[in-house]
Amino acid sequence: MFVGVWAFVGRSLRAGRELRRARIPSAQNSQAHVPTGGIQRLACNTERVATRPAKQRNLGRLSEIAQVAVRHGFGYFFEKHRLTDLLPWGQRPVVDPTAASQRGLHLRNMLDELGPTFVKFGQLLSTRPDIVPPDIIVELRGLQDDVRPFPFEQVEQVVEADLGLSLERAFLEFETEPIAAASIGQVHRAVLPNGRRVVVKVQRPGAPRQIEADLALLYQAARIAQERIRALDFIDARELVDEFARSIRQELDYRLEARNAERFRHDFAGDPHVAVPRVYWSYTRARVLTLEYLEGITLNDLDVTAYTLDERRRLAYRMTETWMTMIFRNGFFHGDPHPANIMVLAPERIGIVDFGQIGKLTDDDMAKLTRLFIDAANEQVDMLPKRLADLGVRYPKDREEEFRAQLRELYYKYYGATLAEIDPVQVIREGFQLIHSMHLRLPTRFVLLDKAIATLGSVGIELYEDFNVFEVAKPYARDLLRERFGPRYLARQARREGVRLASVISELPYQVHDVMEELRDGQVEIGFVHKGLDEFMVRLSAALNRLVVALVVAGGLIGSSLIGIFAKSGPHVLGINAISVLGFFLSGLLGIWLLWGVIRSGRL
Ligand SMILES: Nc1ncnc2c1ncn2[C@@H]1O[C@H](COP(=O)(O)OP(=O)(O)O)[C@@H](O)[C@H]1O
Ligand SMILES: [Mg+2]
Repeated sequence: MFVGVWAFVGRSLRAGRELRRARIPSAQNSQAHVPTGGIQRLACNTERVATRPAKQRNLGRLSEIAQVAVRHGFGYFFEKHRLTDLLPWGQRPVVDPTAASQRGLHLRNMLDELGPTFVKFGQLLSTRPDIVPPDIIVELRGLQDDVRPFPFEQVEQVVEADLGLSLERAFLEFETEPIAAASIGQVHRAVLPNGRRVVVKVQRPGAPRQIEADLALLYQAARIAQERIRALDFIDARELVDEFARSIRQELDYRLEARNAERFRHDFAGDPHVAVPRVYWSYTRARVLTLEYLEGITLNDLDVTAYTLDERRRLAYRMTETWMTMIFRNGFFHGDPHPANIMVLAPERIGIVDFGQIGKLTDDDMAKLTRLFIDAANEQVDMLPKRLADLGVRYPKDREEEFRAQLRELYYKYYGATLAEIDPVQVIREGFQLIHSMHLRLPTRFVLLDKAIATLGSVGIELYEDFNVFEVAKPYARDLLRERFGPRYLARQARREGVRLASVISELPYQVHDVMEELRDGQVEIGFVHKGLDEFMVRLSAALNRLVVALVVAGGLIGSSLIGIFAKSGPHVLGINAISVLGFFLSGLLGIWLLWGVIRSGRL
């Protein structure tokens, strides 16, 4: 959760709002590359401590993370939040005065060094404009999940353990060099005994263990951060890590990914322009996924100059349409339309791979999203705040007018513009700035959708500079309007509502009967909920207590005076009866205490 800590604290550190231009994920290559020395060093350390008891090991790693953070210029942060006890004994953080202004870049480098789980966590944070400041988001979007491939012997071991067959028996051919490697697994080309060409995704041995260990650390760091850092009060850090843990654990079971692939294949079965690989279930297990090989080239390897402008335009539009269909028609969308996950099979045919992150939309969400989309495509800007509110976006009611004005300004700035005229980093920055300044709360269920749309937008511009979102969106919106709100849809809706209503009506006589019976028997109970009465009672009781103390004080004083006047015998102090003196003293003490309490409460 350290990651989050640095991201969030930025809110309190307003200094240096300078935004750095970042490369967006689309522009990057996700193929394997040799990691930095930092990752290697950390990996070694992890192995070194692997024999220690679990708790101590975690603390060791936590302090290691703290050291990495300090190395990346977060010393000021440790000083500010009194976290220096996490550093090894005696080490003082070096405070770099420029660090706060470059926090996004520093954070990104630090996560890179900490390893794949942290990189993925950073990627998740980059999709939360409601909690992470825009300058950090822009940097976090540049994080890539690239790692070194693991050795072929381990590939063999995993495949054999999961399939229960030796590699030679299971496959006719199996390429030893992977075509891609990521933190969870890597992909090899192979041929099945029946001659079919496939790709086999094999999970990195030890991936679940490493991820679980990193998750435990994140939970621990989240707890410390939540306890000590005031700026995090409005965030549920644990829930954030929970959300992350859920999504990353899902990616560990390839059978889920296989099921997602099947669903997409089914959804696009009739579409000649979209190819989804078939799943070979008998060669698929939790750690091994075998898919039909798609003959084509991924967008990030594509040499766009070999294509005519028109072909590029058609490809970009095809992609946009495919995702619009997933979002508005199927309610089941690919959450990571990264250029390495989209293939070009022919000028008019794209292929989709990598089904680890998918988003689902309910029918209700789809209908609301469609309304938003239709209004946005048709220049109904004033309707947008309401549409967004319907979708669960929360904004302060008294600032609705301001929100509307800002939305309008943003909209017309980009309306009708081609992608070439738009700097996507700028759009992200402005959009997120708006979310931030208006304190908008975004519903978590749309986070993946936002990310998918942003990624797709940046892929579009790589492909075809003159891409105009509205040009594709408008006719699509028109069709949707006809489909969603046309007579057929309305008839279906009416039927569904009718069934629901019928069930309510059929219950009605019984409910009326029950109420009448209770009335007849005099058993009707009505519950009252009083608001604010509890607080009033507490105050009343405090006031009564004070009154009682005041009476005791007054009684004590009067009693002591009477004793002082009438008691002639017994011990005397300074000519006054000793009991009377004691009475005066105790009453005075009580009186001062009462007075002090009243003054301190500020209500004299
Ligand atoms: N069915 C396929 N046909 C051809 N190439 C594929 C197929 N599936 C994956 N690939 C290639 O392997 C790469 C990594 O696969 P992917 O499923 O995206 O794994 P990861 O989850 O590691 O990103 C893709 O970028 C693509 O180049
Ligand atoms: Mg991929």
